[in-house]
Amino acid sequence: MITAIIGSQWGDEGKGKIVDLLAEEADLVIRFNGGNNAGHTVINQYGRTALHLIPSGIFNAKTICVIGNGAVIHPPSLWLEIKELIKKGISLKNLKISSRAHLVMPWHLILDGLQENSRGQNKIGTTNRGIGPAYMDKISREGLRMIDLLDKKTFKAKSLFLLKEKLNFLKSSPGKKINEFEREIDEYLIYGQKLKKFIIQTEFLIWQATEKNKKIFLEGAQGTFLDLDFGTYPFVTSSYTTSAGACLGSGIPPLKIDEVTGVTKAYTTRVGEGPFPTELKNQLGKTIREKGNEYGATTGRPRRCGWFDAVLVRYASLLNGFGNLALTKLDILDFFKTIKICTAYQLNGKQINYPPPAPSQFFRLKPVYEELKGWQKSTIKCRSFGELPKEAKKYLKRIEELVRVKIKIISVGAKREETIRL
Ligand code: IMP
Repeated sequence: MITAIIGSQWGDEGKGKIVDLLAEEADLVIRFNGGNNAGHTVINQYGRTALHLIPSGIFNAKTICVIGNGAVIHPPSLWLEIKELIKKGISLKNLKISSRAHLVMPWHLILDGLQENSRGQNKIGTTNRGIGPAYMDKISREGLRMIDLLDKKTFKAKSLFLLKEKLNFLKSSPGKKINEFEREIDEYLIYGQKLKKFIIQTEFLIWQATEKNKKIFLEGAQGTFLDLDFGTYPFVTSSYTTSAGACLGSGIPPLKIDEVTGVTKAYTTRVGEGPFPTELKNQLGKTIREKGNEYGATTGRPRRCGWFDAVLVRYASLLNGFGNLALTKLDILDFFKTIKICTAYQLNGKQINYPPPAPSQFFRLKPVYEELKGWQKSTIKCRSFGELPKEAKKYLKRIEELVRVKIKIISVGAKREETIRL
């Protein structure tokens, strides 16, 4: 059984909690895209942990956790994450890293900042983790990969060549001098030795597990609308965040995926720049942020908050092939008198029910809302659908109708047990 867990909005949907929950039954969890721009917060017997690169299945001693070929890795950050987990007493014996995963080099971080500065008003609001520049090198066929870390001579020669190529751009940064980058290249080789035991051709391990009908979860990072092709381009990340990306970034053949679960928050958030039709730029938005603790797990930036956008989640469902939904943070809406759902958009006086491709149009969308009565009762202790207040049930049923997908999991709190399985 192979299940892809995909964010249906702009990331931060709570995929970490859902994967941690499902990982109890998982043989394999695979991260297939992005890098340490992601922040998957998991709260369990080990306390609160923010994972950035390591799959959220790592807390289950029996689960093999793979960082797939589609991810990009910044070795110093990965090493820090490994050390943090070891400190908490979590075993890393089951961590495997694809030899094909690309490296985020020290200059990628600087280039990320320089590119953002040059974009001025049109900046993307990246996480500044060098993700875009690392994927640029991958696409231009100049990137360095995990496997290169294990071949000292070639790695040094290739990275010095690349550094030279980038120097023209890097000159405009007051930051680092060339000899500092050279020192960091040597440090990468040391990380290579530390990480050596984790680096393998993960595709073989994955195919073996597939043949044996093992339970595999593909853990998406970011969300559908940050996808390089189908997101709100150019305000997107540089990887493929969808179920198609899950195949590309892991080596799993498309026909082997049995199920796609869309993770969706009971409202919408976005961090960084870009269009967001249902954004609440008022006190209500601030209230959602405070109640939902909507601050980036990676950068600490406040997230922009707004009502649930059914147009987006329906589109995400068509694109990813959601078979079911895991809806998170329902409890954050416990206190509202009325709750809105966006059911369509107005654009140039016409009603549309899809996200348009041009950012100029996207920025001008006016949401068409349906207003529902709030439940104004705590849901955190509910453990079955029947126990939920009647208005909460109505809200969930309406989401199912609009998105045309059944909800399978409802999260009513941050802890594992604060969950309703349907
Ligand atoms: P980058 O991935 O750092 O290049 O950032 C590109 C865009 O994706 C920015 O708007 C970021 O805020 C957003 N982004 C990247 N990773 C995440 C994530 O894990 N959650 C939410 N937004 C993200």
